[in-house]
Amino acid sequence: MKNDQLDIFAATIPGLEKVCARELTALGVDFPRTVAGGVEFCGDLRHIYLANLWLRSAGRVTVRVGSGRCSDFPELFKRSARLPWGRFIKPATPVKVLVTCHRSRLWHGERVATAVMDGIDRALGRSRPESGPFTQQVLVRIDTDRCTFSVDSSGLLLHRRGYRQAAVRAPLRETLAAGILQLLGWDGTTPLVDPCCGSGSFPLEAALLAAHRAPGAARTFAFMHWPRYREGLWRSLLAEAARGERPLTVALHGADRDLAAVAAARANAEHAGLSATVTFHERAIADWDVAPVGCGLVIANPPYGLRLERPETLTPLYAEFGNVCRRVFPAWRVALLTPHRQLADATGLPFVQALPLLNGGKRVQLFTTFRMPSR
Ligand SMILES: C[S@@+](CC[C@H](N)C(=O)[O-])C[C@H]1O[C@@H](n2cnc3c(N)ncnc32)[C@H](O)[C@@H]1O
Repeated sequence: MKNDQLDIFAATIPGLEKVCARELTALGVDFPRTVAGGVEFCGDLRHIYLANLWLRSAGRVTVRVGSGRCSDFPELFKRSARLPWGRFIKPATPVKVLVTCHRSRLWHGERVATAVMDGIDRALGRSRPESGPFTQQVLVRIDTDRCTFSVDSSGLLLHRRGYRQAAVRAPLRETLAAGILQLLGWDGTTPLVDPCCGSGSFPLEAALLAAHRAPGAARTFAFMHWPRYREGLWRSLLAEAARGERPLTVALHGADRDLAAVAAARANAEHAGLSATVTFHERAIADWDVAPVGCGLVIANPPYGLRLERPETLTPLYAEFGNVCRRVFPAWRVALLTPHRQLADATGLPFVQALPLLNGGKRVQLFTTFRMPSR
């Protein structure tokens, strides 16, 4: 590895690792390696900026600062104090340490965080700063007494693109919506309809994808607070991204029976500068009588029911979804996200694949009437 090369990790929802690896390859990253929950790769500052700016399916991008065996607190402090934190943290920047411990002698998260924080203060030759407008997150993972120390380069998680101002109940994370579109092989050239669109995650992420718009172009990142932040490089990547945007010609539609959800989706489209390109309708599933355009993809994440509600109560809604797909969208491809196979079966649609994913920590499956491109 060259000297300026860093070990970088893009964290994803389990199931989206290969999508994320493909996104990294498209950004010019050599040999991204998928592991459970993310993708490891080597790169420099430019790759960190590019990953944050462009990755649609990743939740955050972290950089490994060091690793090694640690089984007691004095050792943990000493090891932390020897790491090159000064490359990423200014002396005046407060730090928050997030800890996960598995099968290790060090298991007390708070004490681990304190020891690492003390080590960072020692490495930076400082006394701990007061809280400030920005706090650098440091991630410490201890597994079978092996400790890995990383800094977060993203700040707010990457699904926070900046356009979602209005929320509804149970919205999908933008990263999951964008990851699913890519899993399905949707390339921005065929129409898309989401008849239960809620806050509009599928149509809005589809619009960003089709327009080749960088999802992180409108927000700030933790790396902007690092001592070596290269603003000129960041600006040139933003300018390059803006030059690469394409005019949107594909038809994208969302609908929901809930007026508040449609209002939220329209407000989000407005914030994203996409209100001229995505059409939102106040419409119940049963009220679709004609497809807005030729042929494309119907995608939906209808209600699953509350935790204590039984899926059977939603059977009529899913059956209606199936009826509408057959009657109004007969030649369209259909993708359905739901945790329950019995609800997918209630649609009567000929699903040929079911892919497990996690939505907000809950196991769900992506059912499709077509074969997804190999993942
Ligand atoms: C799980 S939410 C969808 C969330 C959405 N994917 C998002 O990211 O915001 C399900 C949506 O289906 C809508 N819905 C429920 N029954 C419906 C029906 N019969 N027709 C149309 N929409 C319906 C609800 O109002 C809700 O917004």
